[in-house]
Amino acid sequence: MSSRGATPYDASVVAHHPTNSRFPVRRPRRLRASAPLRELVAETHLEPRSLIAPLFVREGITEPQPIASLPGVVQHTLPSLLAEAEVLADLGVGGIILFGVPSTKDAIGSGAFDPEGIVQVALGELAARVGDRTVVMADLCVDEYTDHGHCGILDGHGSVDNDATLEIYAKIAVAQARAGAQVVAPSGMMDGQVATIRAALDAEGFTSTAILAYAAKYASGLYGPFRDAVDCTIVGGGDRKGYQQDWRNGREALVEVLADLDEGADMVMVKPALAYLDVIAAVRAAVDVPLAAYHVSGEYSMIKAAAANGWIDHDVVATEHLTAIKRAGADIILTYFARWFAERYHGVAGAGAEGS
Ligand code: PBG
Repeated sequence: MSSRGATPYDASVVAHHPTNSRFPVRRPRRLRASAPLRELVAETHLEPRSLIAPLFVREGITEPQPIASLPGVVQHTLPSLLAEAEVLADLGVGGIILFGVPSTKDAIGSGAFDPEGIVQVALGELAARVGDRTVVMADLCVDEYTDHGHCGILDGHGSVDNDATLEIYAKIAVAQARAGAQVVAPSGMMDGQVATIRAALDAEGFTSTAILAYAAKYASGLYGPFRDAVDCTIVGGGDRKGYQQDWRNGREALVEVLADLDEGADMVMVKPALAYLDVIAAVRAAVDVPLAAYHVSGEYSMIKAAAANGWIDHDVVATEHLTAIKRAGADIILTYFARWFAERYHGVAGAGAEGS
């Protein structure tokens, strides 16, 4: 506990800090005078090993499909997915998280736990091909698989039935672990989802399968391009405010995080990232488990769109944003920039703004 300390932004710490003596003795610009000096004193380091690349695999297609609102990202075929995973592993990207797009959807999202379903087949191949070089993860939810687009099963009144949904999540967790997922990442924001999944995994002998909990996930407007990526439309123009967090609430994130840890989460996540840096910092100060942040589709696409218009510098802003998320306290970042960043980091020739 004592190791957690105060955040660097605590006013009382700054006021009493010995380096806060006055000009002209104190000249902070001295340490900014050259690139090597700046390199030496940089507090935050962004590396491919701390990044997780979200990947989409779609059933029943023969060519990768571009996603208009997510430039440079595609819905993969199984072969193109495996090729991309090889590249990411070679580049030292820390992990990949898989999302499936089934060819048919139904009311309960049964494609999500079908052993022959696209995600399970892909997980098996990924585990075999790159599982010893990068971490193979699976997003655990049903919104890509339900015909109504919600993250759970609907009750008779059109709202999501928490406890009935948990039974489905348990099945998905076991199917994903059996297929080869090393980490499952429940993203549906149902109460009790981590405890249910942990119990289900343990009962089937998957005691080593880790849980990365989407713990503080907000009902954000920044998921739009993702929903294009997984062909998800919420029935009746609905939203997820009945289960995802209200963006007005910061303290509530701690309630969610502590509950997930109590239920057995191995790692926790805050999502989205940039508009929630205060939440990331607060969670970092409160817990000692690895903390992830999801730099979501809308955050990525805003950079792509502004850069395409020549309004901002793509490489500078992308690096600045990812670094800010790390500086706020995230250990791990899920980002569509993972391949682009890793190529640039390794000086791969031709690593352009178009990335993957
Ligand atoms: C739900 C899920 C979503 C994202 C990841 N998992 C969408 C949602 O909650 O509506 C969004 C990721 C992104 O926008 O990049 N399975």
